Amino acid sequence: MPRFYVTTPIYYVKDAPHLGHAYTTVNADALARWHRLAGDEVLFLTGTDEHGQKVARAAEAQGLTPLEWTDQLAPRFQAAWADLDIAYDDFIRTTEDRHTASVQAFLSRIHDNGYIYKDRYQGLYCVPCEQYYAEDELLAGGCCPVHRTPVEHLEEENYFFRLSAFEDRLVEWFEAHPDAVVPESKRNEALSFVKGGLRDISITRTSIDWGVRVPWDDEHVFYVWYDALVNYVTAIGYGRDDARFAAWWPSVHHLIGKEILRFHCVWWPAMCLAAGIDPPARVQVHGWLLLGGEKMSNSSVNQIAPGDLTAEYGVDPVRYHLLRDIPLGSDGEFSAEGIVGRYNTDLANTLGNLLARVATVVGSKCGGTGPAPDPASRLAGVAGEVVAAAVAAWGAGQPHLGLEATWRLLRETNAELEAAEPWKAEPGPAVEAVLGSALEVLRITALLLVPAMPSTARELWRRIGLAGVPEDRRLPADADWGGYPGGGTVEKGAPLFPRRKG
Ligand code: ME8
Ligand code: MG
Repeated sequence: MPRFYVTTPIYYVKDAPHLGHAYTTVNADALARWHRLAGDEVLFLTGTDEHGQKVARAAEAQGLTPLEWTDQLAPRFQAAWADLDIAYDDFIRTTEDRHTASVQAFLSRIHDNGYIYKDRYQGLYCVPCEQYYAEDELLAGGCCPVHRTPVEHLEEENYFFRLSAFEDRLVEWFEAHPDAVVPESKRNEALSFVKGGLRDISITRTSIDWGVRVPWDDEHVFYVWYDALVNYVTAIGYGRDDARFAAWWPSVHHLIGKEILRFHCVWWPAMCLAAGIDPPARVQVHGWLLLGGEKMSNSSVNQIAPGDLTAEYGVDPVRYHLLRDIPLGSDGEFSAEGIVGRYNTDLANTLGNLLARVATVVGSKCGGTGPAPDPASRLAGVAGEVVAAAVAAWGAGQPHLGLEATWRLLRETNAELEAAEPWKAEPGPAVEAVLGSALEVLRITALLLVPAMPSTARELWRRIGLAGVPEDRRLPADADWGGYPGGGTVEKGAPLFPRRKG
């Protein structure tokens, strides 16, 4: 059985999650659900990044110890994900013992392999980024290019990772694995960063103690990024369960925002090579959710809590909007008009109307019993094309294209009904053929909607009189035309997506 191991970044527990975090997590969840539907063995990992200065300072500002603080914050991420119907298999917290064990094993291996040494370091450090910057990377006034706040001068004795030793091997890796980093523009960005020359990097701190201890020198803790990146192998048992690790690595699919490209596409692959394991099979880099042109972030005021949106619009419409309107790879502006527009056009009009119409006419012309589809319907061909397009799109990590294809089938079915006008015709085989085919489209749609809108998919399945739940079916096999059995009770019910004014 093919394996699909998908990860999100582990989020800083500096504050409650916002819609930007939800964007990545919903995409990862949808991809995981798609792969489960395809019959793959899936492991979906998310979690929280709980060490480092940023978290320690947030805790201090609240008058709490870092652990007290993270113990309060991690459940807020879990609650937000429950609210968004996120079905992760594992939630990792970097303060767990399993993580300490894996970080120490992983970095000891790199140390034993000769890629870690001790030296003095001084530099300009941005606490919100948890990263040193070179002077020429800063904005005027010595400010961080990401946060636009002043960086700090730090000087300490550090352990260094010999990143410079990996220039050639990284270039070879990029060339041998052209799809390891997608989209291509991001691959090129990472590759040209490597080709521009790599400097060794400092990976430990003595100035803070909120972190994982360096096992060979307990004056030091690992710098938060070196601890955090290891989470991806902790979760599959690195240094603790070799058989499990071997089963899942390196066929991983990391989903990340573009601001952490260097960590995931340069440092992390180099660390893997240094530890003697393969680099990750795939890093998919996405853009930013913007609000008024600015990145939504913890350090700014323009945050939207996912729970406020799901309370207003419903869970599935929020998921649909994030997946449909902000393609993975591009930046996208979030707005109330955007979500309402998409809701009314696609959910209320196209999908909601189709179901309401079909259920009403099945009620009036077929006594409420769904007829079987017409094997010769024109829609059979459209459905075949749409399923193929959706399978290709989801398989390539492009949910928006999968959903776009699905809506083509719905629109063509609405057009078919408008042309046939079964509501005006006498009951009989012609009306039954048209309605049965529309019900078959709704069945196939329910399958195709499992990853993006799991409860809508279930409700659609139930309303057209099918037993069980769509997520127990398999794609593409169960999407072949003709699967709707006919004979079940079709329920009209309340509108799935009542039209919204704003
Ligand atoms: O970087 N648009 O954590 P973080 C899209 N702990 N995605 C966004 C976003 C936005 N406006 N804002 C946040 C960290 N994200 C580290 C990661 S991984 C080993 C350690 C998402 O809390 C996106 O996935 O700053 C981004 O990369 C991530 O949240 C950053 O979360
Ligand atoms: Mg960030």
